[in-house]
Amino acid sequence: MRTPIIAGNWKMNKTAAQAVDLVAEMRSDLEAAEGVECVVCPPYLAVPDVARLLVDSTVAVGCQDVYWKESGAFTGEVAAVMAAEFCQYAIIGHSERREYFGETDQSVNSKIKGALAAGLVPIVCVGESLELRQAEKTESWIIGQLHGAFEGISVEQAIGIVIAYEPIWAIGTGLAATAEEAERVCGQVVRATLTELYGSGVAEQIRVQYGGSVNAGNAAELLAKPNIDGALVGGASLKAADFVTIVRAAQAQSRAR
Ligand code: PGA
Repeated sequence: MRTPIIAGNWKMNKTAAQAVDLVAEMRSDLEAAEGVECVVCPPYLAVPDVARLLVDSTVAVGCQDVYWKESGAFTGEVAAVMAAEFCQYAIIGHSERREYFGETDQSVNSKIKGALAAGLVPIVCVGESLELRQAEKTESWIIGQLHGAFEGISVEQAIGIVIAYEPIWAIGTGLAATAEEAERVCGQVVRATLTELYGSGVAEQIRVQYGGSVNAGNAAELLAKPNIDGALVGGASLKAADFVTIVRAAQAQSRAR
């Protein structure tokens, strides 16, 4: 059985002081949700303060990106080993990083390896654009992204990775994929590709999140699907009440299973 995982991707929102306030507001409710892994991913400058606040908490901390080299002349970058001082998770290959910051399947692969070497759990994002979807290329695109991401990743490493299926057309638009569409891609594309790469015993252990306009109203339906093991939440993770509602929906599902 896969433990559901709900991660909040705060993107470039919240100062360190605001981040601490937001975590303080929802911390006890998140901790009360047994059977669900909760992760908050604030912007880097807020990570140390948030991590200190959550030091004895079941709520984990993630960062939104890492660089794979351990140190050196890489102006502006943060090494995975540095992030690992404060974080347990690292979002890698988010579509915004691929679109605005030139990330490729190759850099995503290097970042996954760097994160794993530092002891971080990578949350690896894949997903198709509206153009690809309309051209009916969703499947081949995501298979390609997964093959690139998992290049040279061992079975033992693969089991510890979380995948987030995030259709780009659904991110920040308020137009989430339907639960049926999300389930189809998470199961018949993502988990099927993991099965092809690592066998079904391994693929059944890897958690696959859905992301893209997940909110307090649609979370329960999405999370009820058998191949959707959690959510990567953007906008709704910035509102304590909404994020707590999403986490509770995951808890209700994990109880029902
Ligand atoms: P959204 O973002 O929930 O605001 O659509 C999700 C994401 O980009 O991870």
